[in-house]
Amino acid sequence: MTDRIVLREEALEASYVPESLPHREAELKLLRDRFAQAATGKRGWSQLLTGGIGSGKTVMAQKLQRELASARYGNYRTLYVNCWRRNSDRTVLLELLKGVGYPLPDRGYSLPEMVDTLEAGLRRVEGNLLVILDEVTSLFRQGTRLVYLLTRGPEVGLGRLSLLLIAPQDVLPLLDPATRSGFGVTHRLHLPPYSLEALTDILLARGEAALRPGSLSPDVATQIARVAAPQSDARLALELLEGAARRAEQRGGSEIGAEDVRWAKASLYPTFTEGKLEGLSPHALLVLLALARTLKSPGSWVGLDRVRSTYATVAEEFGTQAQSRVTFWRTVKALEREGLVNVDPQGPGQAAKVSQDEMPVSLLELVLQERLGRAGPRLS
Ligand SMILES: Nc1ncnc2c1ncn2[C@@H]1O[C@H](COP(=O)(O)OP(=O)(O)OP(=O)(O)O)[C@@H](O)[C@H]1O
Ligand SMILES: [Mg+2]
Repeated sequence: MTDRIVLREEALEASYVPESLPHREAELKLLRDRFAQAATGKRGWSQLLTGGIGSGKTVMAQKLQRELASARYGNYRTLYVNCWRRNSDRTVLLELLKGVGYPLPDRGYSLPEMVDTLEAGLRRVEGNLLVILDEVTSLFRQGTRLVYLLTRGPEVGLGRLSLLLIAPQDVLPLLDPATRSGFGVTHRLHLPPYSLEALTDILLARGEAALRPGSLSPDVATQIARVAAPQSDARLALELLEGAARRAEQRGGSEIGAEDVRWAKASLYPTFTEGKLEGLSPHALLVLLALARTLKSPGSWVGLDRVRSTYATVAEEFGTQAQSRVTFWRTVKALEREGLVNVDPQGPGQAAKVSQDEMPVSLLELVLQERLGRAGPRLS
């Protein structure tokens, strides 16, 4: 009987709203303060929130919705609409009408009639209302009029209505000048991309909520973050974490290991193709094989000197002379340029470290042995 690693599956799911949002606390506070202040001043506030894929826009909006519901921040009621599938003013309005308890059939009403009905519905809402339109880009592409109406809430009789628009990129150029004028600098917030350290902290925090204590080490969290860091994508990082945790459970392990992460990476995001090995010299293949074998020890990094001594053995095994230290180092750097290995930025000489997160090392070893075997017993 092996221990389970994933104890609270829901804490890894996209819909889960975590206790804390590391590296987004300041932005969340800023938004909360703006809407809370608007509530005190009895005026609506329009806000645009942008950021890359998996940068935490939706989860921040969910968190904001919960916080603003408290009396302390204005007793907001929220209507959340994801506009990705409802990409016209009409369909979004229908959704809002349902939200205020005045559903209309989707035919037979003009846009102004629908807005009038929304107005009637809003009059019944006590206090403040926040409308969140997520993934709003397609609405802008359709030349929306609704957004303009919603930003002018008080003037057009829509009462104390606040608006939070969410989009992956800067959508302002898609807006007509009148609507754009409602989104001056203080009405815009762009989320900076997550760094490697930020992704590591996010993984550790979500891991703490979802996994058995002690099953996710900081080293493994950093390894996962390293894979997701080029895209700065927290969603990708969490998917990898779940994949690696499942793999560790399957093999009966009690904690997530570096090889589990490589398996998760290879099965969820297979970017490693054998084609990448095609252009490599036999010595580069031997260095990779040495790396694969050395990486079988726990941990995601190994010292370069250990790889080099394995390399000497591997070269002998394939009947060839090992390259000099300098040429060996050059080959490692070439493999790094190909995206096949990572070299720890610590300078060479003082125990540089290397890793390989693209593919399970057990698989990589097989592929390389097969390829080198085909090259004949003696390599030149
Ligand atoms: N700071 C954070 N702390 C904890 N979890 C986070 C954080 N940022 C993002 N996440 C998680 O990462 C995943 C992706 O975040 P989210 O869905 O909010 O991204 P998004 O910016 O809306 O992306 P998209 O543009 O693709 O919709 C979610 O599971 C979310 O809970
Ligand atoms: Mg989103």
